[in-house]
Amino acid sequence: MPATVLVGLQWGDEGKGKITDFMAGMANAVVRFQGGANAGHTVEFGSSRFKFHQIPSGMLHKGVTGIIANGSVVDPEGLLSEMEGVESRGFDLSKLYISDRAHIVMPYHKQLDGAEEALRGANALGTTKRGIGPCYADKSARLGFRINELLKPDALRQKLEFVCRVKNAYASALSLDVDIDAGAIYESMLKYSGAITEHARDTTGMINSMMARGRKLLFEGAHGIMLDIDHGNYPFVTSSNTVAGDAYASSGMSPRHPIRPFGVLKAYSTRVGAGPFPTELSDTVGEHLALKGMEVGTTTGRPRRCGWLDLFAARHAIMVSGVREVALTKLDVLSGIDRLKVAVGYEYDGRKLRDYPADASTAYSVRPVYREFRGWNDQLDEGMKRYADLPQAAKTYISFIEKFLDVSARIISVGHTRDRTIVRGKISI
Ligand code: IMP
Repeated sequence: MPATVLVGLQWGDEGKGKITDFMAGMANAVVRFQGGANAGHTVEFGSSRFKFHQIPSGMLHKGVTGIIANGSVVDPEGLLSEMEGVESRGFDLSKLYISDRAHIVMPYHKQLDGAEEALRGANALGTTKRGIGPCYADKSARLGFRINELLKPDALRQKLEFVCRVKNAYASALSLDVDIDAGAIYESMLKYSGAITEHARDTTGMINSMMARGRKLLFEGAHGIMLDIDHGNYPFVTSSNTVAGDAYASSGMSPRHPIRPFGVLKAYSTRVGAGPFPTELSDTVGEHLALKGMEVGTTTGRPRRCGWLDLFAARHAIMVSGVREVALTKLDVLSGIDRLKVAVGYEYDGRKLRDYPADASTAYSVRPVYREFRGWNDQLDEGMKRYADLPQAAKTYISFIEKFLDVSARIISVGHTRDRTIVRGKISI
């Protein structure tokens, strides 16, 4: 049985939290395989609202194992406080496991993230300042700390002295206002070490053994494909691979086990932080999307930029992820807009582009080619249970998306809560 890999097809914030939660009810385990506390997944049911950053959002279902795999970066203090918050609301996290190979986000990663952004000035990337870029950079530079190192305090202390010397030298060479104290960091690591290592496991072995036993695994992508370090709008991206194929390398699952990539696509586009956004709207429609869609960043509280659905970008995301099935989210937000537009191509320098541009400066200068659709006024969030209940104009919009992207829209979300979900046919994982 393939493992389902849920990925966002835009710039994040597609509503993956809700769809993960929906699918996790059928899973034995939910795996976060990349990213860290920069992610923010919101799940709502009844009058309860949960905001997950590092804990797999599917863990609200009883009995589901949660795994933070090796490709993730863990901010221990943030994770422990998130766990405390979830546990205090009566949920059991004893089956949350953290890969002993996952890297630790150190305090200086967060300081350097902020300081480097300030140094970039007008060219800032708009990161979440959660230390993600500096942590992944240290992982590649082999200066990082992994969860298993918490088990050997003496070696940890020695390495910390060396790494902090390197970090301080870097900070002072760039005149960054950052002071990195190895002793203080060591003390704080000792404080949380026990609570974290209690959950540390060889999750690679765990995942492979579960797959071999026919267990149902759901991999939960943390960010959108357009933020992928290789396939997104570099450098306006996050620092990990977000494509479905990364589920293998970032969890250690053997490629002998098949995956089923499942995409999440919001019915319009949003982006947080800097970077090209060809379909961005700064008019009343943009305001409508922001207000009705409550488009504010879950992690940073920043307002999200809003725009028309960009199918040219989504087609690229689908190609690099192998997606054939999608959940279309927040369709209800489009109610009340007279004419809808979707981008079906880009023109650059008077030519129609065949492929999504690798270069961010090209993506900044393209002119989207739009296709227009009639909108609808009906409010979709009341009593829409079946596909047939949707207004004809909404069905036309969905059919066009399916045809253009060569996917089937298996789930249509028309509100934030679990009950506002239209499922087409039977969905299993
Ligand atoms: P970083 O991941 O904090 O380094 O930020 C890099 C870029 O990715 C910035 O534009 C962020 O706004 C964006 N980003 C990171 N995580 C998310 C997310 O969960 N949703 C939307 N954008 C994100």
